[in-house]
Amino acid sequence: MQPFLGVLLAAGQGKRMKSQIPKALHQVAGEPMIDHAMNNLLKAGAARIIVVVGHGGDQLVEHIGDRAEAVWQREQLGSGHATMQAIPALEGFHGAVVVAPADVPALRSSTIERLVHQHAAGGYAATVLTMVLDDPAHYGRVVRNSHGDVAAIVEYRDASEHIRAIREVNTGVYCFNCPDLLKELPGLTNDNDQGEYYLTDVIEMLVRHGRPVGAVVLDDPAEGLGINSREELAQVGQVLRFRKHRDLMQDGVTIVDPATTYIDMGVEIGRDTVIEPFTVLCGRTVIGRGCHVGPYVCVRDAAMGDGCVIGPFSYIRPGTRLADKVKVGDFVEVKNSTVGQGTKIPHLSYVGDADLGSGINVGAGTITCNYDGERKHRTIIEDGAFIGANSNLVAPVRVGREAYIATGSTITDHVPAGALGIARARQQNKEGWVERRKQSRQTQASREDN
Ligand code: UD1
Ligand code: CA
Repeated sequence: MQPFLGVLLAAGQGKRMKSQIPKALHQVAGEPMIDHAMNNLLKAGAARIIVVVGHGGDQLVEHIGDRAEAVWQREQLGSGHATMQAIPALEGFHGAVVVAPADVPALRSSTIERLVHQHAAGGYAATVLTMVLDDPAHYGRVVRNSHGDVAAIVEYRDASEHIRAIREVNTGVYCFNCPDLLKELPGLTNDNDQGEYYLTDVIEMLVRHGRPVGAVVLDDPAEGLGINSREELAQVGQVLRFRKHRDLMQDGVTIVDPATTYIDMGVEIGRDTVIEPFTVLCGRTVIGRGCHVGPYVCVRDAAMGDGCVIGPFSYIRPGTRLADKVKVGDFVEVKNSTVGQGTKIPHLSYVGDADLGSGINVGAGTITCNYDGERKHRTIIEDGAFIGANSNLVAPVRVGREAYIATGSTITDHVPAGALGIARARQQNKEGWVERRKQSRQTQASREDN
């Protein structure tokens, strides 16, 4: 395939989102919409990406960094006007340009490849990606001539009843022959209901100038759903979520109940791992093979090896790395910690900013006291140590190899390898104390009666 360029339109305010954040930065399936769009273009083989920014542009420019070139659209005068801002960046390029809105994140990279491929094969000046919807709602309608060729795209607001009845709509994604696009853009006018420069008008102009326009129809219209409101954000989120589940299941992961499972796009899971219901796996999480995760587990930006058993009710937070065969049980939180092979943290613990070796048993209710009110400190527990239940490990502190911590200890000093660390008040039993108290109460009561 010839190299092509990508232009993403991301300057719109997204009024219906009712948000301070630019629409393209809203997250869907754990990633901002603009990231989905950029990743898809790159995966499909885009040589360069130009992002048109405007509303909330500073935030967007910072977010995209050096992954794409940003061009500014200072006033949001429509999708055609937005595309015009990319003209200087496109000048001199003779290949294909994919123009897409930043608010269609469910689009697959394979679809972009197909669009570019068919565009080239058909020798078109422009190829529109369309979809057929049962409810075409407010999408632009694709008008075809008697030969079935695309003749124009008419925006819903400008469409007659007759045209509104058309169910084939514009996804807003196009592939243009760059010189054809550059030639038509300056001719756009804003003579329509919204007083905007519509990119869609370029299609009719090309047809009028005798240039060939093609169309690729989506097999799965869910790919073309645009996000203009919070409701659509959730709908498209679900499309992406179920697609991710399907991909994982096809790769050999058991998801017991996809409807109650949330797995972000960037999560990787190995074969024969079982994900129980009500499990939320977020961000850049990597899970090995043969693990059992859930029910009711949340993992964010963490990694675990093979054969781990996590849950129910565990919270694994960013920066955590669990080796193979680690057990993290109920009501356990692990944050920014490394945990070695075969170590068990079965119940009711907080392990934060800690480095645990292998073969350790952490008793129920153990807490790493990692924060002194100003700074975080690390706790180090070496291989084979045994931490008695309900211990507090006041960081910075180290528990040596195979050391024992007596139940209920508050450990403030390092415990050498092989030692028993015990740090709690010694128990006293006061013989006959209950009877003595009873008697003294009776004496007091009879005094008050008198
Ligand atoms: C657009 C299409 C419509 C199509 C639909 C698919 C036009 C005129 N209409 O409508 O045919 O069915 O997408 O989702 O293109 N933008 C800018 N600057 C602007 C205006 C918009 O960058 O001045 C960007 C937006 O950020 C957005 C994209 O262009 O990413 C599309 O704009 P939007 O207002 O969402 O267009 P739709 O009404 O959805
Ligand atoms: Ca839109």
